[in-house]
Amino acid sequence: MPQGVVTVAYIGATILFILALGGLSHPETARRGNLYGMTGMGIALIATIFGVVTDNYTLLILALVIGGTIGLVLAKRVQMTQMPELVAILHSLVGLAAVFVGFATFSDPDMDFVGVEQTIHDIEIYVGILIGAITFSGSVIAFGKLSGKIGGNPLILPARHWLNLSLLLITIWVGSAFVGQSADGGGTFPLLVMTLIALAFGVHMVMAIGGADMPVVVSMLNSYSGWAASATGFMLSNDLLIVTGALVGSSGAILSYIMCRAMNRKFLAVIAGGFGTTSGSSSAASGEDQGEVVPIDTTETAELLKNAKEVMIIPGYGMAVAQAQHIVHEITRKLRDNDINVRFGIHPVAGRMPGHMNVLLAEAKLPYDIVFEMDEINDDFPNIDVSVIIGANDIVNPSALTDPDSPIAGMPVLECWKGDTTIVLKRSMATGYAGVQNPLFFLDNTRMLFGDARESLDKVLADL
Ligand code: TAP
Repeated sequence: MPQGVVTVAYIGATILFILALGGLSHPETARRGNLYGMTGMGIALIATIFGVVTDNYTLLILALVIGGTIGLVLAKRVQMTQMPELVAILHSLVGLAAVFVGFATFSDPDMDFVGVEQTIHDIEIYVGILIGAITFSGSVIAFGKLSGKIGGNPLILPARHWLNLSLLLITIWVGSAFVGQSADGGGTFPLLVMTLIALAFGVHMVMAIGGADMPVVVSMLNSYSGWAASATGFMLSNDLLIVTGALVGSSGAILSYIMCRAMNRKFLAVIAGGFGTTSGSSSAASGEDQGEVVPIDTTETAELLKNAKEVMIIPGYGMAVAQAQHIVHEITRKLRDNDINVRFGIHPVAGRMPGHMNVLLAEAKLPYDIVFEMDEINDDFPNIDVSVIIGANDIVNPSALTDPDSPIAGMPVLECWKGDTTIVLKRSMATGYAGVQNPLFFLDNTRMLFGDARESLDKVLADL
């Protein structure tokens, strides 16, 4: 394929990627955004395969078939609730690719530069491998934490900030020894030393982050993987990879910022780690009971809903586990047919990934105009007759506002307790993701509807 066609295809793909990001910013346009993204990636792959990479098509097609099959099987098998783990492990592959490309480029005898060009090329390789190695090991640990294979408590080493600072200074020092050295002239050793340091740093950085901060970490690693891809683009002199990596890197950084704001956390404090431990000193953190709860059955729940004028539904991770979104839609339709105003309140970190609840509600074809973000409806709770909390816990925990010792202190929450009655659907008194007990369950105007959310809601619908 001529170089001119490749360049035009790359520009087309870049535009489609930008349109994809724009589309993904709203549920109504998300499907279209995905289509743009897939088309852009298709064009990018075709232009790269036929115009840029190699003459060895047998090897290339073999690699594509193996990689494509693994991706397809993983995507088909993964449960919606396991998405963050999958995303984390895929980020690790981007990081690993950047490391491999870095070493391959460094050892490539054809890459023969002199003077300033050589220095720039060396720095590209060094920074590319550095970001790639941090992304790789950090994402593997994030995968372990999200899938429960590694405990969620932060690992707080003594003098950890000094340790990080020392690693940074050593990396810079080793970098100065590396720049200007060729592969056979002693450059490989400093590169290997830096790679090991970067791998250790990635592990240490994510191990120090507590369970409650993991959403930010996932989007932060997403951003890193973008910068790693961008660095790979510099090493391979591939403009599309540079631009696409920068798009992923910057959108991931913006998402991390939005998540930090949603959880009232400072980005640097998240990176510094130690937040979200389940061994906090407050009584709310210890998971101990805080009084009696008042249970309710499905018939009484249906009765309360029938007599309400204003209903707010707050979905959380448990709705995803129970796959209750379709039955929630049925109930919503029934109530709205009886002139009851039903709205949905969505917390920015409800579930286990950004937009998790919106995806589920969209899948169940709920009208978008009754789904509101937390900031849009949090002041309305005093006018709400019945709030129905479906498998949510941390995002409706009042201790986030009242208990400064709570691991989730400062996180804005949906203030459902300000309404007349709150009905909480969950299976037991178990804590949520952050491992903290929820005083909401013990309030006078709260009723607990115990059981699997889908089974309970099936019965509520029948009673309605
Ligand atoms: P959680 O606080 O995790 O609470 C979920 C609740 O659902 C649990 O208390 C559980 O109680 C209940 N549940 C589970 N399965 C159920 C079922 N089949 N039927 C009924 N209830 C069920 O969820 P949340 O309120 O959505 O808060 C999200 C938490 O995850 C936050 O702490 C957030 O920081 C964190 N997080 C978020 C993300 C993103 S980006 N959204 C990513 C990682 C972590 P039972 O076991 O008693 O049923």
